[in-house]
Amino acid sequence: MSKILVTGGSGYIGSHTVVELHNAGYDVVIVDNLSNSNIKILTQLHAITGKWFDFHEIDLQSYVAVQAFAEQHSDITGIIHFAAYKAVGESVAQPLKYYKNNFYSLINLLTSFNKKIDFVFSSSCTVYGQPDALPVTESAPIKKAESPYGNTKQIAEEILQETTSVTPDLNVIALRYFNPVGAHESALIGELPNGVPANLVPFITQSAIGKRGPITVYGNDYDTVDGSAVRDYIHVVDLAKAHVAAVKRLEDKKAESNYEVFNIGTGKGSSVLEIISAFEKTTGEKLDYKVGERRSGDVEKVYGDVQKSKDVLGWEAELGIEEMMKSAWEWEKYIKANPF
Ligand code: NAD
Ligand code: WQD
Repeated sequence: MSKILVTGGSGYIGSHTVVELHNAGYDVVIVDNLSNSNIKILTQLHAITGKWFDFHEIDLQSYVAVQAFAEQHSDITGIIHFAAYKAVGESVAQPLKYYKNNFYSLINLLTSFNKKIDFVFSSSCTVYGQPDALPVTESAPIKKAESPYGNTKQIAEEILQETTSVTPDLNVIALRYFNPVGAHESALIGELPNGVPANLVPFITQSAIGKRGPITVYGNDYDTVDGSAVRDYIHVVDLAKAHVAAVKRLEDKKAESNYEVFNIGTGKGSSVLEIISAFEKTTGEKLDYKVGERRSGDVEKVYGDVQKSKDVLGWEAELGIEEMMKSAWEWEKYIKANPF
């Protein structure tokens, strides 16, 4: 059984990926500093899988700590690197906080695990900015980042590409996620936003449960189906499964080169108003919303070309907007009744 290190494994996408790795028969070890997650996730993961996962509270920004961890865990064959800060607005206010965490963590891992290693990196569709053509393919040009957060993903991809080109023992797959939403079907794990959610779906569920006021739709004058902005929303469980596919591809030595990139989305765009209406229809809850100004830095529309993921990675999304809305709502109700 191969041992996979999941950094950021108690976070939103990481926790769902731990479940899918376990279901696929992998031995999982988690590293997280709990800066944006809760230790109670381990109890939730146990309730879902029946397993207590090997957890290490380590700050990946510390080279000494990562080096010691790597020495003690020489049996790790693969790493899925989720751990990073991800709040776009905060990254504009505190760029160094983002550059320090997102780069130190990546570089400390790459230098400490300096042996034959498989590495899956969490990248983002943010690297495309507003693409010239849609659906956007992996070969589309990388646009100047709108935020320090986006810049950390662009530069991290470059760091990985340049490092793999001189390190044959390092095998990397970078997954460019579109907009992850939803929660595990058990409703025992899900997204835990810090403070007022900046992202659409957590704001919708918090508004519906009465924790927030009405939603503001940021702009209704875009050149889209109904004037509101369009994104490619992807169920977090589908996204988690894409990581298992990536780990398998690296393990089975199927990669065509030691640096590959895949879009991870559904290939389908949905507008903000369509998401609001899908939430109402799926859950029976009525949402209160108003239309406001466009949000600075937002792109008009983006959705991914997912042909390469289907053909090469052998992965495709299975869950639709209904499952995304329903599971996000079940999780919101669960966390209200069982606060962490
Ligand atoms: P998250 O904040 O829920 O999870 C990240 C986890 O990493 C948290 O548990 C946090 O405590 C941990 N962490 C952060 N810095 C750390 C450090 N120095 N040492 C150890 N642990 C640390 O975020 P998420 O939504 O699960 O995102 C996971 C990854 O996916 C991130 O790299 C993010 O940039 C990327 N991503 C997320 C989205 C999204 O919309 N959620 C979209 C594209 C890419
Ligand atoms: C989706 C749509 C908003 C809230 C961000 C990051 C990106 C990636 C995913 C990590 C947009 C609109 C939102 C609200 C609204 N993360 N909206 N009212 O902006 O596509 O992407 O998360 O890599 O880097 O930028 O996601 O969920 O914030 O917004 O109208 O209260 O919903 O304007 O059109 P976004 P989001």
